[in-house]
Amino acid sequence: MLKRTCITTSLALTLSVSVLAPAAHADPATPLVIGHRGAAGLAPENTLEAVDRADRAGIDWVEVDVQRSKDGVLVLMHDQDLVRTTDAEKVFPHRAPWKVGDFTYAELKRLRAGASPQWKASRYERAGIPTLGQVLDRLDRNNQGLLLELKWPGNFPGVVQDTLRVLGRKGWLDAHHVHNRLYVISFLASTLKTLRKERPDIKLGICDDRASTGKLASYARFADAVNPQHTATTADFVRRAHALKGPHGTPLKVWPYTVNTSTQARRLRDLRVDGFTTDFPDKMRHVLGH
Ligand code: G3P
Ligand code: CA
Repeated sequence: MLKRTCITTSLALTLSVSVLAPAAHADPATPLVIGHRGAAGLAPENTLEAVDRADRAGIDWVEVDVQRSKDGVLVLMHDQDLVRTTDAEKVFPHRAPWKVGDFTYAELKRLRAGASPQWKASRYERAGIPTLGQVLDRLDRNNQGLLLELKWPGNFPGVVQDTLRVLGRKGWLDAHHVHNRLYVISFLASTLKTLRKERPDIKLGICDDRASTGKLASYARFADAVNPQHTATTADFVRRAHALKGPHGTPLKVWPYTVNTSTQARRLRDLRVDGFTTDFPDKMRHVLGH
């Protein structure tokens, strides 16, 4: 399959050409379209089905959120509790407040990630909560890259080490994956710095809901990308980010979140962001003429 987009260094391009032969990004001025929580507008968020929907729309990169079950299994889930996106209240009525980390993986497996009103009675109603390992396998099968967000890392001591273990077990710490297919992102700088100490080769992205221009220089000391809230992203922020180099020697990438209208997408393209996450990657590709 030759549809892949390369977003990394020239070394990575060399590797990716030899291993995956991805197509070069058609137009460097066109932002990369990244599926948010897989493709949350097209299938239940943070599921294998959402990852596959992004793939079917020709999307090379997806973002997902990772947390940990009570018995130590890394699973995909955005909210701190299971209420909004699953049928946890119905299946486990006496387990309020339904925090993700209060449930074993065997219990999480009983839940439907397609149970919210949005997906009820759709073909995705029975979608389940995947493990990080299952998602990595699926991304390999689909030949997609990953922005892996460590969600609420303060709730899960040791999640960095757990994540590295799963990545290693699934073959995602080899040079090919590390250079071409993976960014680990988080809102918590200290978590990313911990990861960087363990594996300085892994590229990192720092999420920042305020797009703080004054923090960019400190971000560039440990991160290769910054993920600002799209409404806070300005031309000045993008210019200043691009003037800095991350630890792997390339200009700090700017990947705002979460961009769901054509007006927003065009505005960010005109600001020359490197990419953005969206719940509707199919529509955004079309808007940008990919
Ligand atoms: O790309 C970062 C973005 O996913 C952060 O926002 O709340 O959707 O995890 P959130
Ligand atoms: Ca996220």
